[in-house]
Amino acid sequence: MPGHWPLRTFLELGALPGAVPCGRLHARLVAWEWGLAGQGDDAELLVSELLTNAVAAARAVDPIFPVRLWLLSDTVHLAILVWDANPQPPVRTHIDDEAESGRGLLLVEAVSQRWGWYTPRDMTGKVVWALTRKLGALCRTLRAEQARVTPLPRRACLR
Ligand SMILES: Nc1ncnc2c1ncn2[C@@H]1O[C@H](COP(=O)(O)OP(=O)(O)OP(=O)(O)O)[C@@H](O)[C@H]1O
Ligand SMILES: [Mg+2]
Repeated sequence: MPGHWPLRTFLELGALPGAVPCGRLHARLVAWEWGLAGQGDDAELLVSELLTNAVAAARAVDPIFPVRLWLLSDTVHLAILVWDANPQPPVRTHIDDEAESGRGLLLVEAVSQRWGWYTPRDMTGKVVWALTRKLGALCRTLRAEQARVTPLPRRACLR
């Protein structure tokens, strides 16, 4: 991902459900430590959706590898990168109101400034990444609007 990212952390987590709360708490604490506490909610949500998908994808291949989470910052934004060993790319699906899944990447798209994925040169699998927006207030407005337009199932990190 292009850009200058002087602040960096890395975590490797077992492909287990516990990876998600672990990653979320880590993101919240790191955002606070880097002076970006205003982006903590968004970072948590992005980590939660990307890690949930990564754990599911990692568990779909044999052998099951851990997942990897990097948090980077240019001191203004947070970049969240999640690696899993499954080469299948994420697919942003178009869902109807009744669908019970397929909303994770919709949320990622709504909350992030940009998101994407790439195949790393030196690893199998792929990295899915998202960049937080600078303005937390704008994110909250967008999220409220998103919830109004597309009623979402309750998720712990939506407030
Ligand atoms: N890391 C990933 N590896 C492989 N496929 C992925 C990955 N992330 C997402 N996908 C694919 O993209 C689809 C859409 O992901 P999305 O998060 O929007 O929905 P979901 O995970 O199916 O449901 P929800 O997040 O609402 O519980 C997934 O069903 C999966 O097929
Ligand atoms: Mg998902």
